[in-house]
Amino acid sequence: MGRFLERTGWVIDLAEYRRNAAKYAGLEIPTWLLDIASGWLVVPIIAQEQLIGFVVLATPRTKLDVNWEVLDLLKTAARQIGSFLAHIQASEALLEARKFEAFNKMGAFVVHDLKNLVAQLSLLLTNAERHRQNPRFQEDMLATVKHVAERMNRLLVQLSTGSRSEEALRPLNLGALAKRVVQSKRNGAAAISLQDAGEVFALGYEQRLERVIGHLVQNAIDATHASGTVQVDVICNEQWATVEVCDDGCGMSEAFVRERLFRPFQTTKATGMGIGAFETAQYAKETGGRVEAQSRPGEGTSFYLDFPLTRKAINV
Ligand SMILES: Nc1ncnc2c1ncn2[C@@H]1O[C@H](COP(=O)(O)OP(=O)(O)OP(=O)(O)O)[C@@H](O)[C@H]1O
Ligand SMILES: [Mg+2]
Repeated sequence: MGRFLERTGWVIDLAEYRRNAAKYAGLEIPTWLLDIASGWLVVPIIAQEQLIGFVVLATPRTKLDVNWEVLDLLKTAARQIGSFLAHIQASEALLEARKFEAFNKMGAFVVHDLKNLVAQLSLLLTNAERHRQNPRFQEDMLATVKHVAERMNRLLVQLSTGSRSEEALRPLNLGALAKRVVQSKRNGAAAISLQDAGEVFALGYEQRLERVIGHLVQNAIDATHASGTVQVDVICNEQWATVEVCDDGCGMSEAFVRERLFRPFQTTKATGMGIGAFETAQYAKETGGRVEAQSRPGEGTSFYLDFPLTRKAINV
């Protein structure tokens, strides 16, 4: 019956069908429908040439002649119902697709975070072999393990509630943040130095920005040899607060920077996810900032992460 309704768009008169089924060639009405004693007309609901349902009208109390005017009116009403239902179906599908997208994106960020935490712990283990007797290293180690445990707990909350934990937007001391990142990465191979103009504030989300600067520093470390250098500068001019991460590593081609660097899942590393630069660009966009990369293959790379300057007078 569905196919018949979709093909013809006819309104079926059940009484007529019972009397003379031949008039509806090719139509087979299921018995459960014929069994409805008060059944009168079957009106198809069609949207974009697809049957999405039908309405069964009961016999009216006063007799009504089903002429072409009645049929036209019914078809118009059915068309309206059809487009309304199609609209609801489309928005439900869209909502579902968006939810999936958000979930997938979150999954990728979570895996990326986990990878960074594992890297931090592995670095700690490597260094423990050499420095385990050094009290300063022991202090450092405790601080790192505490930090990792806190972040893992946050990730768990994020995974179980299905959303990123909402941080408050507030003025952040960029120098202090950069210092924390540099300290956590310092045990690696390349030499990292930090220059901080002091008291440079920008509006941001603390944990996310710490992660973003961490991505830039990690990328710089990955790109340099053991004898290479990574330089982090926090500077400000009239309008912008800037975190600059420079390295003298392998660099990137102009085409790579233009077409792939800030896209998700673009990576040249065996265990890379291609999320770091993408998350950096997203963060900058969300907080009214901007990110730029200047690079020359074989010479090195500079990342500039700019944020609108917040008046230094604001104290945190
Ligand atoms: N400082 C840099 N020097 C050279 N190449 C870089 C630098 N930063 C990024 N890249 C290139 O850009 C690619 C994408 O970087 P991105 O941080 O997004 O992902 P990834 O480092 O590969 O993986 P992950 O998601 O684990 O960070 C890298 O694979 C690398 O090829
Ligand atoms: Mg990276």
